[in-house]
Amino acid sequence: MRKNIVAGNWKMNTTVPEGVELAKAVCEAVCKEQNLKCDVVVGVPFTHLCAVRQAIDINKVGLAAENCADHVSGAYTGEVSAPMVASTGANYVILGHSERREYYHETAEILKTKVDLALEAGLKVIFCCGESLEQRENGSFKQVIEDELKDSLFHLSAEQMANIVIAYEPIWAIGTGKTATADQAQEIHAFIRSILADKYGKQVADDTTILYGGSCKPSNAPELFAKADIDGGLIGGASLKAADFMGIVTAF
Ligand code: PGA
Repeated sequence: MRKNIVAGNWKMNTTVPEGVELAKAVCEAVCKEQNLKCDVVVGVPFTHLCAVRQAIDINKVGLAAENCADHVSGAYTGEVSAPMVASTGANYVILGHSERREYYHETAEILKTKVDLALEAGLKVIFCCGESLEQRENGSFKQVIEDELKDSLFHLSAEQMANIVIAYEPIWAIGTGKTATADQAQEIHAFIRSILADKYGKQVADDTTILYGGSCKPSNAPELFAKADIDGGLIGGASLKAADFMGIVTAF
């Protein structure tokens, strides 16, 4: 059976002390919840990983980096590799976020390499896909999503897919306050599950966690998470306040 997951993506926000405080507040709140129906993960900047790892109970709150390099080690000034991320005690990495694809020119080929290196390092991958407003409006969005998954994930074995979480994030809904309706999101999640089933069979498709991301907040999370194929969320803005984030964590 697949897991429900709510993962925060802090992006380039908080200093280390602020991040430690936020992570502690999330972990304390998670520990108090008697009946949690999802796993909780915080995705934090590289600089925060070690300190946040110390501040949380990793059995209660998972820890994600927001990126990793497409090389293992060597002369790549400023880069942080998957084994380095894993050595902090983090257990996840977010890859393929639309901001990385767009602003840092990460191609499907680069992401494929990053996915392989992350899995080799023992990290679980939260792999993002999603269409732009233009692609939504011109009707190419399903093809765009299918290509993003095929080009960076579909070389993996069924066993490796057990360590992949997919996040559907329509770019037009990220940070804009415009959420996809629960029906729009459900349609794409069911579509993603169907292409997983075509490639890997029903069992893998049923076992894969598919998150929704894009202006998800406590007020809209219950309706989104009630849908059959929406297994949680990847949360940007609303993950920066423990109370808002917990409002989403408890939305199942
Ligand atoms: P948002 O970001 O919740 O601020 O829209 C989501 C994301 O980019 O992962």
